[in-house]
Amino acid sequence: MIHLSQSRSSIIFEEGDETLSIVHWGKKIASLDGNSEKALSAAIHKPHFHGGLDVAPRNLVLREHSRGFIGHPSLRGHRAGIAASNRFHLKSATQKDQTLIAIFLDSIAELEIELTYSLTESDVLLIDGKVTNKGASDYFLEHFLYWLPLAEQADQVLDFYGHWTKERQPQRRDIGYGLTSREGFEGRSGHDYTITQIALNSSTNFRSGQAWSLAMAWSGNNIHHVERLIDGSKAIGAGEYLLPGEVILKAGESYIAPRAVASFSDTGLDGITANHYDWIRSRSNHITKVRPRPLTLNMWEAVYFNHSFEGIKKIVDKAAELGVERVVLDDGWFGSRRNDRLGLGDWVVSKDVWPDGLQPIIKYINDKGIEFGLWFEGEMVNADSDLYRAHPDWILQEPGRIPVEGRWQQVLDITKEGAYNHVLNQVDTVLTENNIAYIKWDHNRHLSDPISDGRPVVRKQTEALYRLFDELKRRHPGLEIESCASGGGRVDLGMIEHADRFWTSDQNDPLERQQIQRWSAMVIPPEFLGTHVGPTVGHQMHRTHDISFRALNALFGHAGIEWNVTEASDSEIAVLKSYIAFYKKHRALIHSGDVVRSDVIQGNAQMYGTVSKDKKQAVFTYMQLTSLDNFGPLVATFDGLDPHVTYRVSINEGISAPEFLQKAHPGWWPTVDLTGEQLANIGLQLPVMKPETGLIFEISAL
Ligand code: DGJ
Repeated sequence: MIHLSQSRSSIIFEEGDETLSIVHWGKKIASLDGNSEKALSAAIHKPHFHGGLDVAPRNLVLREHSRGFIGHPSLRGHRAGIAASNRFHLKSATQKDQTLIAIFLDSIAELEIELTYSLTESDVLLIDGKVTNKGASDYFLEHFLYWLPLAEQADQVLDFYGHWTKERQPQRRDIGYGLTSREGFEGRSGHDYTITQIALNSSTNFRSGQAWSLAMAWSGNNIHHVERLIDGSKAIGAGEYLLPGEVILKAGESYIAPRAVASFSDTGLDGITANHYDWIRSRSNHITKVRPRPLTLNMWEAVYFNHSFEGIKKIVDKAAELGVERVVLDDGWFGSRRNDRLGLGDWVVSKDVWPDGLQPIIKYINDKGIEFGLWFEGEMVNADSDLYRAHPDWILQEPGRIPVEGRWQQVLDITKEGAYNHVLNQVDTVLTENNIAYIKWDHNRHLSDPISDGRPVVRKQTEALYRLFDELKRRHPGLEIESCASGGGRVDLGMIEHADRFWTSDQNDPLERQQIQRWSAMVIPPEFLGTHVGPTVGHQMHRTHDISFRALNALFGHAGIEWNVTEASDSEIAVLKSYIAFYKKHRALIHSGDVVRSDVIQGNAQMYGTVSKDKKQAVFTYMQLTSLDNFGPLVATFDGLDPHVTYRVSINEGISAPEFLQKAHPGWWPTVDLTGEQLANIGLQLPVMKPETGLIFEISAL
């Protein structure tokens, strides 16, 4: 047997009968010796059931009908109608440390598959696959999926759906017989993308219970499945959704599948989150290793398309007074882009709005010690643009048919060298001529006709974008890129390798955004997730929220402002100053600690926090979303601290709710010293909260 294990999880493979199967994926198992391997193999050997074939069902790594497997196969394809059946033989299985490389050959279909499983020190299992055509004729690959077996206890599946301004909403369902499936063919991961899929037990919650997650590290079309079969097996699968004819392998060519990212936790959903954060943060180029994440003011909701030197200067003056560290100029600075029907594709500074170019405003911003960022949407083009007039053939389209527009735009075919170079060179020129530390890269429509010269190209378009980002970063060392797509339409584990930040959602209403952030942060660490304080009356839901509630909402991410702050009242400015000071004081903790989400407080309130790895510091937020059920006994407990340590817990009154429904505060207010054990098991009496208000607790070991 081949046993990959780390401190909390194991995956055990068994070779036999020219196949490789998975005996266990879950809780860590002590190392195996020859005898225990034999016993284990016998222990899980399934009976042959009546009515089935004369083979025992197994959790085959490659699920093949020719071996008696009855569910969804791992690979599907053919050679113009033949060689559609597969039986791969395991050629080699080599373990090095906690990595297994398995090579399989199907000599009749003339294909080779290489699968690499690496169990990282963070208990994240990375799976990479490659399919190679060993024959002389073309091989039409229809799909190649990764599958992992699920334990009996996994009886539910949690995945995520959403739309513009409501991304990553949870949906938790029982695993029934057959296929529970999420498929995305937007040509980007999309607002409706299930950022990961998690099998779990019905009793699993944030802080306890078992969970098995599987996600694609990919920003293009995708598939996430859970399958329960009548032979008793359950499995979780994922892969790239390939369009017909998208991958046709010529002799000797390989399909390199996007990576899959899996993880097991027996400490609830918070364990899955911790594993992902540890893995992402362990990468040598992780963004917080470069420097703390700068407090950002984005101009979109402040000015929309009304760019003017004078107007922006005033906002910058206020931003500097507040302590803002980065200002981003959004849509509208280029070509004929005075509204959203024009100009996309012409990445040249507009003389109409910026007659002296961008340099004067950038200098003004830089002179205040603030860095400058700029918006692009390089994969798109408006019909009313110089680019489209010159190259109408550079859009993705079925030959002879113009695709429906989305936000009055078409998708530029960056798989075409000319179009790719046009974008690269124009963006590069703007970055070379100006001091730009950061770009916000948008993508405001999905790919309805992802066809280039008659062939589907979602995969190639996605790879071209990754290449473009990497090339821009190579040419401009230190450049940061934010991935935005109509808000949070391209937030995924593939993009984390190429971008440094996500615009989580266009939804700045704190009530709505609490949910979006909670679930976006399931596998994406907060330092990646842009979270901004919006205006007094929100531009999306048109609700009015107190500045305290808006600021608390924006703290657990890469914080910023999305507002014309010259309109803020004195009391709003005071809270904004506290918000920025708090963020700067605690960002190192929020961007490195473990997330704790309360199971006790849920529903009409949320409580969550971050505890430092050494358990000496923590910050927790209590958010009262709707009105209280009663006035009395709401007590907040604080998990994740060291039970033996005494902590000082203080309310930060500069950001917390200014008003309550009570005559006097609880006895401990605003500070108290208690042990981690007392805080976890007895907790703190809360004040009587008004709806849409919150509290923030600073906790430090004494
Ligand atoms: C959609 C983005 O999500 C917004 O933040 C803004 O950049 C607009 N596009 C600009 O057109």
